[in-house]
Amino acid sequence: MVRCVNFKHVTEKMMKIRNLTLDNNVFLAPMAGVTDLPYRSIMKRFGSGLVFTEMISANGLFHGGNKTYELLHSLPEERPLAIQLFGGDAEVLARAAAKVAPSADLVDLNMGCPVKKVLRSGAGSALLREPRKVAGIVCNVRRAIDRPLTIKIRSGWDSSSLNFLEIGRIAQEEGADAIILHPRTRAQGFGGRADWSHIRQLKEGLRIPVVGSGDIFCAQDALDMKAQTGCDAVMVGRGSYGNPWLIESILRLQAKKSPTAPSPQNRHAVACEHLHLHLERFGPQRTLGEMRKHLCWYSKGLPGSASFRAALNNSPTIADLRSAVDEFFLASTG
Ligand SMILES: Cc1cc2nc3c(=O)[nH]c(=O)nc-3n(C[C@H](O)[C@H](O)[C@H](O)COP(=O)(O)O)c2cc1C
Repeated sequence: MVRCVNFKHVTEKMMKIRNLTLDNNVFLAPMAGVTDLPYRSIMKRFGSGLVFTEMISANGLFHGGNKTYELLHSLPEERPLAIQLFGGDAEVLARAAAKVAPSADLVDLNMGCPVKKVLRSGAGSALLREPRKVAGIVCNVRRAIDRPLTIKIRSGWDSSSLNFLEIGRIAQEEGADAIILHPRTRAQGFGGRADWSHIRQLKEGLRIPVVGSGDIFCAQDALDMKAQTGCDAVMVGRGSYGNPWLIESILRLQAKKSPTAPSPQNRHAVACEHLHLHLERFGPQRTLGEMRKHLCWYSKGLPGSASFRAALNNSPTIADLRSAVDEFFLASTG
C-alpha cells in the first residue's frame, strides 16, 4: 500500500458545494480513458478533495451494455465522488442523473467535450451553441436530483462565440451549484494556452462557486490560477499523469510547505501499486493494453525512459511488464 499523508490538517480551506463539504479545493478532472477507478483511488490517496469519473453516456445507461455500467463502479475510499454524464437530451439526462445519484456525491454534466462523435449526438460542447437547451437540461436535472449539480464547460464553440458567462449565468439561474470552466474553445481542442482570464470573468459574474481547469502542471500553477482568477477550486488533469505528487504538492504549497519531489523509489512504489490495482479491477488483458501509458508517465524525466517505453511495448505478459518496471526503476535508483 502507498503511504499517504493525511492532509486534513494542512489544507488552506475546506469547500462547500451545495450541502457537500469537501476537505479541500484541489479536484481531479474527469478524463475519458484515464480517470478509471484505480487512477482515482491513487489520486484520492494523494489528497484530492473530489475525484470525477470519466464521462458516462446518459443514453448508454438505458441502451448501452455493461461497459457503461462499469464506468460507474466505485469504492467507498474514493468518496466524495463526482459522476459526470454526457448527453444532448434533457429528459434522458434527468433520468440518468436520478439513476446515478445514489452512487454519487455530486453529479456533473459535460458541456465541453470537443470529440466529433459526442458533438454529433448534440452533447458536449455542441450544447454551448444552444443556451436554451442548456437551460432546459439544467432545469430538468435539477428537478430530478437533490445532489449537488455542476456543469463543466469550455469558453465557447470558437473564438467568435465566447459565451461562457452567458452559459454560466443560465446554469446558475436554473439551479446549478457550481460551474467548472476549461477556458479553451471547442475549436482550440487542447492547442494554445488555457485563457485563465475567462475563469476570472466567470468568477466575477456568478454567485455560485467556480472551478478552474486547464494547464496546471506544477504546484505553483495552481496557486497562480487561484491568485489570478479568484476561483474557488482548481482541477488537475494532464498534470496528474504519472504524478499524483502534483496534488500533494498543491496542498502542501497552499499550506506554505515545500512541494513534494518524488524519488525514483517513490515512483516505483506508486507505479507498482497502480499496476496492482488495475490488474485487480480489470484483469490481465485490459491491464496490458491500458497500463503501458501510465507506466510511461511514471517514468517521465528519468534517464532511459525512451528505452523503458520500448521494453513495455515488448512485454507480452503482466510478469514481463512487472519485470520491466522493476528493472527500470531499480536502475534509476542507482
Ligand atoms: C485524455 C483526456 C480525456 C478527457 N476527458 C474528459 C471528460 O471525460 N470529461 C470532461 O469534462 N473533460 C475531459 N477532459 C478535459 C479535462 O477534464 C480538462 O478540463 C482539460 O484536460 C484541461 O485541464 P488540464 O490542462 O489540467 O489537462 C479530458 C482531457 C483529456 C486530456
